[in-house]
Formats: sequence, C-alpha cells, structure tokens
Amino acid sequence: MTTIITQFPVAHAIQERRTIKNFKPDAVSLDLINELLNISVWAPNHKLREPWRFIAFVEGGRKTLVQLMKRDAEKGKMGKPMKKAKIDYLLEIPAHVVVIMPEDPRPNVWEEDFAAVSTLIQNFQLAAWERGLGVIWKTDAVIYSPEFRQSIGVQPGEKVVGILHVGYPETAPKPQTRTPATDRLTIISDASGMIEEELFYIPISKQNIFLNLQSIPKTEAIQLAGEKLVELGYVAENYIASMHEKEKVKSTYLGNGVSTPHGSKIAKEAVVKSGVVILHFPNGIDYENGEKVYIMIGIAAERSYHLDVLMKAATMFEMKGNADKVANATSIEEFIQRFEEVERDTRVW
Ligand SMILES: Cc1cc2nc3c(=O)[nH]c(=O)nc-3n(C[C@H](O)[C@H](O)[C@H](O)COP(=O)(O)O)c2cc1C
Repeated sequence: MTTIITQFPVAHAIQERRTIKNFKPDAVSLDLINELLNISVWAPNHKLREPWRFIAFVEGGRKTLVQLMKRDAEKGKMGKPMKKAKIDYLLEIPAHVVVIMPEDPRPNVWEEDFAAVSTLIQNFQLAAWERGLGVIWKTDAVIYSPEFRQSIGVQPGEKVVGILHVGYPETAPKPQTRTPATDRLTIISDASGMIEEELFYIPISKQNIFLNLQSIPKTEAIQLAGEKLVELGYVAENYIASMHEKEKVKSTYLGNGVSTPHGSKIAKEAVVKSGVVILHFPNGIDYENGEKVYIMIGIAAERSYHLDVLMKAATMFEMKGNADKVANATSIEEFIQRFEEVERDTRVW
C-alpha cells in the first residue's frame, strides 16, 4: 500500500479517487457536467490539437443510451440479450459522457492524441471526485460496434475512448492498493554515463598543434598541414595531393577565421588512422574572398570522421568570439586551455 498522507489537495484527490460502480439515484445536472468538462479540457495536448469531443446523455437521454446498448447486445457481435439486472443497473445511472477522439492516420499523432484524451478523462474523474461525484470509465465491446457508433453519431475516423458513467457514490468504495513506483524505478544519477562516451572531441595535444606560424599562401598552408599529418603517421604522402584536389573542388573555409582542409574520398586508402593537426597563424593567411584563416584544422579521415570534426568545429566556432579567443592564445598551454573551454561552453547535450 503506498498511500502518502499529504497536505496537497491534488495528491489527496489522486489517491482517494476510486472507480465508482454503484450510484445514488440523485440527478447530476448538465450544468455540472459542463463545468467538469471545462475543467478537464485543461489536459496537456500536443500542438494544442484538443483532440476530443463529447456526447452527454442526461435526463431522458440516459434511456436512449441504454436502449442503444441493449439493442447492440442483442443484434451486434455479442448476439446475446442484455440481462435485466444490467439494464436496470444502467437505467439508474444519473449521467453518461461519451468521450470521442479523431483517429489521425499518423501513428505518432494518434498516440499523442490518445494520451491527451486519457489525461483529459483522468482530469474529469478527479474534478468529479472533488465535487463528491464518482465515475467509472467503461470500454466495453459496445464502443467498437459499428451500429452503436453510428446510432450515437460517431463518425468514421473517430474513436470512442470511453463511456463515463457519472453519479454520486452509493457506497464508500473499497480501498485500493498500488505497487510502490520505486519497485519499478531505474535510477540514473551519474552525469558521466553512457551519453558522455558518445561525445565527440577534436583530439588536440601539444604534439598536433603548431603555434605561431608565419603567414604563408593558402596552398602552402594546406601543403604544410598535409606534411604534418604524414609526419604524425596519420596519412601516407599521397593524401596531400588529394587535400589540394578537394580544396579546388570546394573550399574548406568554415567561417570566422577557421578552415578544415581534408582529403577526398578516393584518398581513403592513404589514411592510416583518423586524426587532426592544428596550424595556428596569428596574423592570418589569405584564404578566399578576403577572408583570413587563423586556425587551420587539417583532417585525416577514415570513413566519415571529417564530418564529425566539421560538425564539432562548426559548433565551437560558430561565434566569432570563440574563434578569436583561441586564435589569440600565445602559448600551446593557453591554446589548449582555450580550445577546451570553448569545447565545453558549446557542448550540445
Ligand atoms: C482505459 C480504461 C478502461 C477501463 N474500462 C473499464 C471497464 O470497461 N469496466 C470496468 O469495470 N472498469 C474499467 N476501468 C476502471 C478500472 O477497472 C479501474 O480504474 C481499476 O480497477 C482501478 O481502480 P480505481 O480506479 O478505483 O483505482 C477502466 C479503466 C481504464 C483506465
């Protein structure tokens, strides 16, 4: 038993509410039903589609509903006459609300709408409970019967989510129990868990950063990046030619003073292992259309590694301030520290 005694009225209502099957004969007014429905429609619903409509059977309409249910029991799939006790029971119920939703053909939208309507029904049950009323949410076979649906005006493409029988409880409901949620709870409290392992970093170290280089023409800079990749054992010599080729086809200028030269697909065999070299030109090199590059990230890419680096670099240096901050470093230590700071500040979780 997991009843939590609390001073919070919503928590109280949630725990105290019980499904009510037996009702006093006292009438439930249409005004009250309307009031409860107007509270219920504050249910969460995606894109505010408000995927619901209602049919209320009150006063004489209650008899109509019972007759239609009875006819369906006899003539519908069940093919059995409804027992007199059941008819009498249904006739005594003070009010009925049929809750209907549109059936969107997109499965995700259907699910969202069904979820929204379900929360609406629970709102109704709780709001009713607060006013001393009881509800039972029924989903008997009749709600799927084409004849019954048609007879109450449910359109093709609509679903009856439930028939709510409403009235004042005749007897105090039996207490219910619930398994404590903690029995079914998985707790993940470690922020450096699975997700962190999947994060991508541009691997930088003192070995692959070349700081304070003289400004040189763009082609020479790409050549130098290629040579450094060869020196560090990332690629074979012929990869460099493909870096030049790639640059001719499409510039690798990223923006904000950063470029990311890399080889083309055909040079994949020349890649020994994925990695980067970072060339730092404090005075910039002329790259294209008057743009200067201060940080050149030369990439040796197996498979789609270059895309990981490109995406990461684009995120890190999307703000000019970040690119300037790293480019203005004056020592390797400072460069690494600033690079890592920018990486942390722009990390997308
Ligand atoms: C979607 C849905 C359909 C239900 N349909 C019926 C039903 O057809 N007949 C019935 O006796 N109770 C029905 N119930 C009520 C459940 O039996 C009831 O919620 C459950 O026994 C727990 O009791 P409580 O509501 O008092 O906590 C339905 C409940 C839900 C959520």
